[in-house]
Amino acid sequence: MLTLGIETSCDETAVALYDSEEGLVGESVFSQIDMHAEYGGVVPELASRDHCLKIISVLEDALGARNISEIDQIAYTSGPGLLGALLVGESFAHGLSAGLGKPTIPVHHLEAHLMAPALDFDDIGFPFISLLVSGGHSLIIDVKGLGDYTILGESQDDAVGEAFDKVGKLLNLPYPGGPHIERIARDGDPKKFNYPRPMMHSDNLNLSFSGLKTAVLYSIRDLENLDEHIPDIAASFQRAAIDVLVSKIKKSLTQTNRDTLILAGGVAANGLLRDEMSKLEDELNIKVRYPAMKHCTDNAAMIAYLGSLKTPDMVTQGNSNARPRWPLNEV
Ligand code: KG4
Ligand code: ZN
Repeated sequence: MLTLGIETSCDETAVALYDSEEGLVGESVFSQIDMHAEYGGVVPELASRDHCLKIISVLEDALGARNISEIDQIAYTSGPGLLGALLVGESFAHGLSAGLGKPTIPVHHLEAHLMAPALDFDDIGFPFISLLVSGGHSLIIDVKGLGDYTILGESQDDAVGEAFDKVGKLLNLPYPGGPHIERIARDGDPKKFNYPRPMMHSDNLNLSFSGLKTAVLYSIRDLENLDEHIPDIAASFQRAAIDVLVSKIKKSLTQTNRDTLILAGGVAANGLLRDEMSKLEDELNIKVRYPAMKHCTDNAAMIAYLGSLKTPDMVTQGNSNARPRWPLNEV
């Protein structure tokens, strides 16, 4: 069974091919990041238009030498995400479906992220804890099996990547701020600014990052010469954000007694987070896994893979299934 996967929920146009016997046999991603950088964040209308412009060449790249007629079914992200961007992927999937006479499978973007580790590891069995940290999501999820997910904690306001990007903007760093903050923080003192660790000691597993971002804003307002403090601000902010994540992850592992932790999302690239997670491996005697970075961030391989696991009664055609908001417990 050859499943075509299409992902257009935000600012990546991606197509992949997953063969149930051979695994991943083709994938291509075009990132719009340079286009949005000029505006300091994703501009939804520009994202939709660019998906329209790029999707055919991304499909051709993913197909390689294969003919489109070889595919058996078409999985696509139907939510959550930017509505206009989702509709481009869905319309494209429906068009292919009508032209080729193949069924479509609407896929939940976060569910695809949760299942993505299977693309890179064959030693991961259920259950496991997933920490999904990106520009759009900050979630701690107990993954008990396919379709059996419990959200243990989630951000009550900004996603952690969003906080990195907003602080990056305050420090006049290019978009997205995350990797730049990490780089600049290497020359800074993480103890110089005593930023808050919101909700770190709350008795639940929820997260919050907007107060931390506001604390950075206030500390900058009081400074005479911002430039010379940027490394210390970056290091202190990063330390506070990662401290909160580490504390909540630790709590989730001890509460659930799970022995495997999987990280996903762009923030999983952060070196300090990775160092802290390695320490947890020894401290709690657990296994920590990072899928390949290209499968941690938005991609279509995870969409094709999840589509390949879906049963035919989940296959629908025709009407739009796009859902900008789609709680994970409704899959
Ligand atoms: O998963 P992703 O590529 O895209 C979506 O959010 O859809 O994640 C991007 C996010 C951005 O907020 C970016 O600043 C953050 O991941 N990020 C990082 C690092 N690399 C990317 N945050 C902290 N440290 C990094 N090294
Ligand atoms: Zn995502």
